[in-house]
Amino acid sequence: MKITLRKTLDSDTKPRLLTLLNLIANNEIRTHLLYSELIKRHACHVGRDQHLLSCFHTALTEDKDHYQCIEHCIELIQGPEAPTKTRNKHYPSTQLKSSFSKLLKSLYLSEASSVQAYSEICTMTLEKDYRLFDLAYRNMHENIVHLDAVEEALNTHCQHPLTH
Ligand SMILES: [Fe+2]
Repeated sequence: MKITLRKTLDSDTKPRLLTLLNLIANNEIRTHLLYSELIKRHACHVGRDQHLLSCFHTALTEDKDHYQCIEHCIELIQGPEAPTKTRNKHYPSTQLKSSFSKLLKSLYLSEASSVQAYSEICTMTLEKDYRLFDLAYRNMHENIVHLDAVEEALNTHCQHPLTH
């Protein structure tokens, strides 16, 4: 999705907004990779549950789309002369070998962090930048659905869902 932003964000808002957008970009690429790994390597859990598999496939695609939109927003806000931020597009392989429940917990925390950051962006942009507000609002709701699916998976497949 191609987006354009209004240039009405004041200079006090921009640094916080960029911090949140960078946090979200890192989360979205991480969750995209985690869904991919969970579908590939944990078919014994995910593959047997058709509802979960379908939710994870949707989340995999949506989080990639979120990531690309957020990167585009960052570029627009920073301007063309700003250095491009290099992002780790590969989840650490040691962590990918973690157990199914550890990957799910990590996924849960990243999705929850994104939802919180999108919520803050909605508050900041309400009545100031409707395009960014709409994008943050839509992505937040899609991630709430992802979060629900991950929570359900944790409750179904893990003994101690959200404890360490
Ligand atoms: Fe997500």
